[in-house]
Amino acid sequence: MGPDQLFKNSQLETVKAWLVNPAHAAMPRHARIQRAIRQLILDSVLGPGKPLPASRALATSLGVSRDTVEAAYTQLHAEGFIERRVGSGSFVAEVTEFGLKDRRSNRDVRARRQEADLSGRGAAIVEGGGMRTMLSPIAFTHGMPETRNFPIQLWERLQRQVLREYGTKALLHGDPQGAEPLRRAIADYVNLERGARATADRVLVLTCSQQAMTLCANMLLNPGDRIFIEDPAYQGARKAFNAAGLDCVFVPVDRQGMVVEHIMNDPLGAKAVSLTPSHQFPTGAKLSLDRRLMLIDWAERHGAWLLEDDYDSEFHYNGKPTECVQGLDPHDRTIYIGTFTKSLFPSLRIGYVVLPPQLVGPMTIARSLLDGHTSVIPQLTLARFMSGGHFGAHIRSMRGLYAERLEALTHFVRQYLSDFVEPYVPFGGLQMPCVLICDLSERAIIDAGRREGIELFGLSSLNASQHAQTGFLLGFAAYTPPELEAAVKKLADLLHGMSRQKAAPSITHS
Ligand SMILES: Cc1ncc(COP(=O)(O)O)c(C=O)c1O
Repeated sequence: MGPDQLFKNSQLETVKAWLVNPAHAAMPRHARIQRAIRQLILDSVLGPGKPLPASRALATSLGVSRDTVEAAYTQLHAEGFIERRVGSGSFVAEVTEFGLKDRRSNRDVRARRQEADLSGRGAAIVEGGGMRTMLSPIAFTHGMPETRNFPIQLWERLQRQVLREYGTKALLHGDPQGAEPLRRAIADYVNLERGARATADRVLVLTCSQQAMTLCANMLLNPGDRIFIEDPAYQGARKAFNAAGLDCVFVPVDRQGMVVEHIMNDPLGAKAVSLTPSHQFPTGAKLSLDRRLMLIDWAERHGAWLLEDDYDSEFHYNGKPTECVQGLDPHDRTIYIGTFTKSLFPSLRIGYVVLPPQLVGPMTIARSLLDGHTSVIPQLTLARFMSGGHFGAHIRSMRGLYAERLEALTHFVRQYLSDFVEPYVPFGGLQMPCVLICDLSERAIIDAGRREGIELFGLSSLNASQHAQTGFLLGFAAYTPPELEAAVKKLADLLHGMSRQKAAPSITHS
């Protein structure tokens, strides 16, 4: 079927207009096609379920290569705007991972955007949907640490000591690079525990990893520059790079992590690589040593940056985690990103980067424009928490607790859900990927789960490739074994009900 039958002339014209508009000249062609189609979807011109033209036919109509259209479709799929069904083509998604609410309110978003008179960049950020920050600790919300047993009295005591020692000085502006005692504590910690090569003057304290990714995307790359990113990948990284107008080039992941051979063989190269080498998000793979070394060598030869997101290495359950890439990199091409969101508690809002020396000044200036600096009193309290040995003790005790919870979840999934999912038991982290092995729809299960008070995160939304596995990322760290068992049983009831319902018509007709 040709594009004219699937795309009305006016729709085709919209895409062509994006392609030739000089205002979009900095964007690669596939990004212009992707943005045009995304706009048609957001404006409800292309409604849910609407088939899109085959990439070959659309490429012919637009006078571009099929690869260009494929790249646009891949990105639309990665962002959840379209679904790709093997053998039958591409369709506008019924709903996206950003939730029904976002999709239903596209008209509102459009109206608000017009009212707010946003820039193209601003509009793209709003359309990306941002990150859901107010996550509630309902099983199986992923990425959540246990906070109910946090040593709050100890924290309060350390904070009082800070206020006593610094007095009203603690109320003044702080160093945009971060409080020196905290930078020192972080450098000591990453050197000892993560095999990094850090000094206090190379640490920049930030609000979170998300801020680190946004800073890197804007300070190290220009709009339209290519960045290699894992497929599947953490949605926060992808959104930060999209918001900065970068061209995300997806690299598959296998059991040894990102398949860096794709990067070596890509003639177009890229300015940066974003990766989670210690514990790939969400598959849990560990990047093998030879791939680490290949990447470091490639980055040096190409003058590219490696953005190493080391988000949960504190929680590896079978011995010490592999040391970080930054510590192996003698050429200073790696930016190490760390966070206390999972190792302590999410509301702390303290993350950090370990920077190559030449980037410390520029990145500190850039952060001063974003939020000035991180709040001083929590920084000084955290510095004491770390240097007093409490951080190490907390991690050790949480590691034991989470290991038990992982074992419990694995047991319950095998006991109650074996007809529906296959668990991929991770060696670390706060969540377990479970792949669907039945023919129920991932989306339908997520929606039904939400109605029953179960939070499920779909694996397919993290993938760019059309052959993504469906399933869920089940968070376990923030829930006790009885809470996990109750949630697993509820999910099992729900799945049994859904499969009975699915089988029902054929029973009636036979
Ligand atoms: C891979 C990855 N990186 C970073 C983060 C978030 O860290 P932060 O709160 O510091 O932005 C998460 C949280 O889920 C994550 O999964």
